[in-house]
Amino acid sequence: MKATTRVVTGGFTAALLVAGFVGVASAKNKLTLYCSPQIEWCNLMVEAFQKETGIEVAMTRKSSGETFAQIKAESRNPKGDVWWGGTGDPHLQAAEEGLTQPYMTPMRPQLHDWALSQAKSADDKTIGIYAGALGFGYNKEILEKNGLPVPACWKDLLKPEYKGHVQMANPNSSGTAYTTLATMVQLFGEDGGFEYMKGLHKNINTYTKSGSAPIKSAARGENTIGIVFLHDAVTQAVSGFPIVPVAPCEGTGYEIGSMSIIKDARNLEEAKKFYDFALRKEIQERAKEAKAYQVMSNKSAVPPEQAPKLESIKLIDYDFKKYGSSDERRRLLAKWDAEVKSLPK
Ligand code: F6P
Repeated sequence: MKATTRVVTGGFTAALLVAGFVGVASAKNKLTLYCSPQIEWCNLMVEAFQKETGIEVAMTRKSSGETFAQIKAESRNPKGDVWWGGTGDPHLQAAEEGLTQPYMTPMRPQLHDWALSQAKSADDKTIGIYAGALGFGYNKEILEKNGLPVPACWKDLLKPEYKGHVQMANPNSSGTAYTTLATMVQLFGEDGGFEYMKGLHKNINTYTKSGSAPIKSAARGENTIGIVFLHDAVTQAVSGFPIVPVAPCEGTGYEIGSMSIIKDARNLEEAKKFYDFALRKEIQERAKEAKAYQVMSNKSAVPPEQAPKLESIKLIDYDFKKYGSSDERRRLLAKWDAEVKSLPK
């Protein structure tokens, strides 16, 4: 009887061990990554992380606002583990709405203050990974061919001769476009900002889903001026297209591209590993291999020489806490839908 019990107990223990091992092994080898910067950089990060850790990454690239909406829709049964990149405002909104969870990374001492201030605003549910200034870029060949003046300021883009020549993304899906909307409100006041967006609407040919699409289409010769982050205009110029990036004369907003761990992530240990990995100097310095020219959050990461120099651009004191708050972002987007998007051109 005793012997039998022992055998049974041993078998049970062995079965538990096997189950435990299988459980641990599968949990240890997977990560679901929601990625919002340029796809080339997303792919590079996935490959580098898989190579270093052996953890298998399933990655989807979607724009910042779209990813926020997806995480919210999945919140009862979260499928993603880490949301890497994309503008900081929707990351802050996700934190406020309890869609992401705090993590105190040991990498903190290596980061710029602006990256940590993003974390502070969200009780450590997010952190800054890069920064970039908003602006626009134009295709100088198309501009010349159409006899159009060279734009230097935000207000220039309202000129009637640019009708049909300007493109930006939809601020509901795109973090770039939401940054544009929030920047105009901060630069010109709420009424002035909305007047600006209404005037701009008359010149817009298409509202795209992704933030960088307007400058990609300008590079291909299908559009003239794209309102984008300056680093995205630089990417096209560096790739040999006749794109000129412009830091607008009135001053401009900027993003703190962020990273968050999704609440109830199924692969929490792997998520933390990716988080720490993404903040390392040598990993951030690899961004340029994907022609990503944001300024990195690790203080030791050497920026590529093509990266726009933020210190030489007139930046506004963008209020991330306010414009990343759930109420304000929802309110501004609803107002833009009702008062700008619905207007005839
Ligand atoms: O293309 C890179 C990038 O501009 C990032 O710097 C930024 O966080 C992200 O794209 C925003 O993309 P979207 O406007 O599509 O949300």
